[in-house]
Amino acid sequence: MIVRAKIKGCGSYLPERILTNDQLAERVETSDEWIQQRTGIKHRYIAGENELTSDLATKAALAALEHANINVSEVDLIVCATATPDETFPATATVVQKNLGVTKGAAFDLQAVCSGFVYGLSVVDSLIQTGQAKTALLIGAETFSRILDWEDRSTCVLFGDGAGAIVLQAEEGNGDTSDSGILSTHIYADGRCHDALYVDGGPSSTGTAGFLRMEGKEVFRQAVTRMPEAIDAALKKSDLGPEAIDWLVPHQANIRIIEAMGKKLKLPKERVVVTVDKHANTSAASIPLALTEAVYDGRIKRGDMIMMAAMGGGFTWGSALLRW
Ligand code: ACO
Repeated sequence: MIVRAKIKGCGSYLPERILTNDQLAERVETSDEWIQQRTGIKHRYIAGENELTSDLATKAALAALEHANINVSEVDLIVCATATPDETFPATATVVQKNLGVTKGAAFDLQAVCSGFVYGLSVVDSLIQTGQAKTALLIGAETFSRILDWEDRSTCVLFGDGAGAIVLQAEEGNGDTSDSGILSTHIYADGRCHDALYVDGGPSSTGTAGFLRMEGKEVFRQAVTRMPEAIDAALKKSDLGPEAIDWLVPHQANIRIIEAMGKKLKLPKERVVVTVDKHANTSAASIPLALTEAVYDGRIKRGDMIMMAAMGGGFTWGSALLRW
């Protein structure tokens, strides 16, 4: 018998305000047609003026706890994957901890940009397997609208705000792929790729939050290579073929990246969860937002095998294989 981190429930939160492509076209020289053709994005959600990352995170966490039917008093670990924290410190996860009324265990943020949720799965899985946590909240929450240069049409059309969360709990497993919960995680980074995707500010450089800068073509090229590599590593580790995957729940950056991954895995479109059309790229929040949608609408069922993959600034990238 081994300890597995089983996912007991999920939840998400999106701000009220929707920003359509047509509305964006009133601010920068772009069009609904260009954005949809190149990215698949139709609209995105934007946080209210006084709405913080911790507010979105708290709402997603509460929804996940309710879905899992787990009392908040059981939570002994809160990890918030975010690149847009409320403040430089303390960690947004500690604000969520206070908002939820949790007074035990650990709480910290994890910074791996769009790979944050997959990195978070890896860290939470380890802490649960080593007995340091029993009931964990893993949240991906972002207010990317705050670090976008709204004059730069090549980036401001791509991102949105939102949050998603899951509740994980220690359970016994057999140690093979029939177990529910996290089966494997593979995480990677290559700091040489800094200039392809970064924010041009920070507390120790400019003293400001800065704006996102990106070489779109290079990010695209790397994404369609690195994510399938991470997926292959997960399949190999469990001695499975792509046909074992019931659902691909990828980071939602661009429909063309997602379709390229699905094709490489030979997965029919219907087995790939897509929300980029409605949410745009919500960085660390995109996977739990997509997961929650597919669980709540009944597509993902208990026992299904799920592959997650993400890539983000750094570059960081990785995959997670789990049975729901
Ligand atoms: N509207 C209209 N035209 C635009 C826009 C816009 N919003 N943005 C750029 N253009 C123009 C460019 O200026 C360029 O014009 P030019 O030919 O006169 O110079 C033209 O469109 C083509 O630009 P490209 O950059 O070549 O367009 P491309 O086909 O590469 O698409 C895109 C750009 C959508 C950004 C693509 O490269 C991409 O999706 N890259 C991945 C980026 C990504 O997903 N980043 C998210 C973070 S990382 C992650 O999550 C994996």
